[in-house]
Amino acid sequence: MPVKVFYHGHSNVEIHSGNYRIQLDPFYTSNPIADMKADAVNPTHILLSHAHFDHAEDVEAVAKRTGAILASNYEITTYYEKRGVKKTVGMNHGGGVNFDFGRATYTVAFHTSSFADGTYGGAPGGWMIETGGKTIYFAGDTALFGDMKLLGELWAIDLAFLPIGDMFTMGPAHALKAAQLLRSKAVVPIHHSTWPPIKQDAAKFAADLAALGIQGHPLTPGQSLTLA
Ligand code: NI
Ligand code: MN
Repeated sequence: MPVKVFYHGHSNVEIHSGNYRIQLDPFYTSNPIADMKADAVNPTHILLSHAHFDHAEDVEAVAKRTGAILASNYEITTYYEKRGVKKTVGMNHGGGVNFDFGRATYTVAFHTSSFADGTYGGAPGGWMIETGGKTIYFAGDTALFGDMKLLGELWAIDLAFLPIGDMFTMGPAHALKAAQLLRSKAVVPIHHSTWPPIKQDAAKFAADLAALGIQGHPLTPGQSLTLA
């Protein structure tokens, strides 16, 4: 079964693998570039990088409606358990869990994490997802960090979702360096052009990746990519 990824704008991504649908950072309702509404998505699993509103906004509604398993850091899953989300997997950095779809490891990210109501959202992370014979890295919101090189040594990464927006995360120049450290075959730029302060030229970023021998896929919201 091919693994297919869908981009819904900002850092809102779905991975479809066999019978499983993995939703990362569901941000539909207030996302000005989202291609669909939160009530149209039907995940089996939700993986959340951190608590910020532009990632977590629709977690509670989607988890409650679908009964999807929510995985994130322990502070985040505890927060949602108190709000009535039933199926949660609380993790922390460096830990991996075997799910029905494959394996997901919660990786470090250099960023912050708090809920819209001010509640502490644990330490932010990213995900290394192994499913359907593919390895996909979702960096979450992060600065460039040197241990991306270690991730590239530990995993043979087929596709990396990397933020390029700048201001709140790394920008395009640092994301190019990240792609090299990770040794990823391909990269989809995320967390950009949602609002004017993080507007970036994703086509130029893809061209710069190509010059380094890395495939760039500047998906627009609603577009998908099948991993061959
Ligand atoms: Ni954030
Ligand atoms: Mn963000």
